[in-house]
Amino acid sequence: MTEARCNRKTDGRDFWCRLGVVITVFVLYLAGPYTAGAQSNAAASIRYDNTARTFRLEAADVSYVLGVNREGQLQSLYWGKRLQPSDPISPARPDNGSSSFDLPVNATPQEFVGWGGGLVVLPDVKITFPDGNRDLVLKYVSYSIQGLSLTITMKDISRDLTVALQYQIDGQTGIVARSARIENHTAAPLTVEQTFAATWNLPANRDYQLRYLTGRWAGEWNLQQEPLHPGKVVLESRRGSTGDEVNPWFAIERGEEPDQDTSDVWFGALGWSGSWQINIEQDWQNRVRVTGGYTPFDFAYRLAPGESLETPKFYGGFSASGVGGASRLLHRFELDTVIPQPHRLRPVLYNSWEATGFDVSEAGQEALAEKAASLGVERFVTDDGWFGERKDDHAGLGDWYVNPQKFPRGLKPLIDRVHALGMDFGLWVEPEMVNPDSDLYRKHPDWVLNFSGRPRTEGRHQLVLNLARPDVRAYVYGFLDKLLSENDIAFLKWDYNRNWSEPGWPAAPLDEQKEVYVKYVQNLYSILAELRQNHPHVEIESCSGGGARVDLGILRYMDEVWPSDNTDPFDRLTIQNGFTYAYSPGLMMAWVTDSPNWMNNRSTSLEYRFLSSMQGSLGIGANLNKWTAEDFAIGKKMVAQYKAVRETVQEGALYRLISPAGSEYAATESVARDGHEAVVFAYLHSSQEGKPFPMLYLKGLDPKAIYSLHVEDGKVADGTVERASGDYWMQQGVEVSLRGDFLAAFFVLEREGK
Ligand code: GLA
Repeated sequence: MTEARCNRKTDGRDFWCRLGVVITVFVLYLAGPYTAGAQSNAAASIRYDNTARTFRLEAADVSYVLGVNREGQLQSLYWGKRLQPSDPISPARPDNGSSSFDLPVNATPQEFVGWGGGLVVLPDVKITFPDGNRDLVLKYVSYSIQGLSLTITMKDISRDLTVALQYQIDGQTGIVARSARIENHTAAPLTVEQTFAATWNLPANRDYQLRYLTGRWAGEWNLQQEPLHPGKVVLESRRGSTGDEVNPWFAIERGEEPDQDTSDVWFGALGWSGSWQINIEQDWQNRVRVTGGYTPFDFAYRLAPGESLETPKFYGGFSASGVGGASRLLHRFELDTVIPQPHRLRPVLYNSWEATGFDVSEAGQEALAEKAASLGVERFVTDDGWFGERKDDHAGLGDWYVNPQKFPRGLKPLIDRVHALGMDFGLWVEPEMVNPDSDLYRKHPDWVLNFSGRPRTEGRHQLVLNLARPDVRAYVYGFLDKLLSENDIAFLKWDYNRNWSEPGWPAAPLDEQKEVYVKYVQNLYSILAELRQNHPHVEIESCSGGGARVDLGILRYMDEVWPSDNTDPFDRLTIQNGFTYAYSPGLMMAWVTDSPNWMNNRSTSLEYRFLSSMQGSLGIGANLNKWTAEDFAIGKKMVAQYKAVRETVQEGALYRLISPAGSEYAATESVARDGHEAVVFAYLHSSQEGKPFPMLYLKGLDPKAIYSLHVEDGKVADGTVERASGDYWMQQGVEVSLRGDFLAAFFVLEREGK
């Protein structure tokens, strides 16, 4: 890897700048499902052209180009499929607008604008200075490049307020991470009233389709799709956390027909676990601006002289291989770059929650652990109920001592037994919450979010600890550090079971109280970072009553997520399908639970439940005390089958063959990173009128290689061949033979030779 620096206040002062700086990081990527066409071995680079004043960020199959125009504005020039190295980039030219109502400042697609001058489009940053002046006009000052990172400094035309815009392009996927740092170099404090991380600009077009993910508790990850029209779509959480009502992810596809594989798709996701907002605005020119970061709702952040405010990262990517290609890029980016590294394949886990509820005990947990171990489970997790006076959800949160009635000898005997059975041990915690009925709350009623003298709204009989407070941060870190130091714990399920209410911070100075939205999340991240540093072997799952805190911010500290409390295997197909638009199956825990399932009272076979959960990272949450010998035999066989393909399922390239949304059929295929196998799952809701299951045309195979078909579960049609070329399986397809209700099939195509 070569690296160079260029850091000047003005351009063109030295030899390298006059030549244009070329910094190149060579990234060779694996041949296989992720490569996208002719550019697959091209180098990743950030180049500055001093004559045209353009910055060209390039990696994988993506070019992202911006430039400084004659007004000193930072203008978006191109974002899309990688250009040829010889392709010229015209210098940035402001758009003059078409009438006196369309001033150039609004007509010109800009990367990051302050609210000031004649701006009427959504500003990225809005500031009130202490003299009441609210005019902020940012102009380009300088840049610096380090490897695949670019920093551009903008400054107000008269005040010493600067914004450092950061860009980082990922060598393997071309995903660009953008953020901004607002710096107060004036002599007086000022208030940031709103700041986003970045604006992404898309060219004028009349047939954009927008996708985003909405949901609710036990019904997360619904994929929404609608055409973009002039006007604005706002995706937002005002809950204090990411939320499940809408996830901070979007994809915009060019073309009227939704397409998995061939269209141009721009996508993005915010790395922030607090309140957030993404605005997707199509203007009068049919151009699209996507602006995201902290929600301006109830936002204010005071910056004393010398202080700065950093925005979250807003990640953006491009795929010319449809929304399927977009997901595959995101999956790879998450696994290889976002989550803590080096990451491991997810172990098969058992969790006692659905079996025991709060009724946990040493003997009961050990009995379940023995049965789980006999299935080949690798991690045993004790869920809620092990601490404080926790008999149900009315009491105990905040009191993180081991309950002496349930575990008179502490956790050690249970942990030792779990280890002796060949598994590692995990534990449920909900560190950010407190029940009013707890010793902690009785001692520190001022530690929760609240407005003085106002009611404190409870959710699940609990209140939210104000993690922004240094004493609360110290308490939460302290008890977790002690728990992990005193017990041999390999895994924490980190839960978070309500939204904020009355988000006051009475102990803070008046003009800093709204900073709670930022400082809470910063402290959450810092606790997680410190825990990971001091307990590097501990893995953590992000759970929020299911999937209400899944985002690229929390994923920097998490190894996996719990996507939904809904474990109905049929509902899960839709939930899991939606989840994978934004997040990798390698992060997605999926448990096999009891039948009939508590959610819909639906009965399904154990095989069907396993095959539904095997689409992600397999877990078991059933009450094993009720399983028959036959159930254990099936479970053991399927756990072994899963282990044989889990690397492909968790880390391979996912192709959606049939979407479960509104269909009685569903099917997915995962192709191993090295291409040696493809794993296919197919699901039938109910046969109707004797119609056959639709033919499955496989994707992402090597057309010339020979693959042999292994049916692991379910049936394929009589007469299906056993060996054929990739072309054959992609063109002729596979006919699965499923007739009945809630049936599934699982087969593997194994490539012969290298
Ligand atoms: C949340 C989680 C569940 C379980 C319970 C325990 O609802 O999503 O999986 O851990 O809390 O109280």
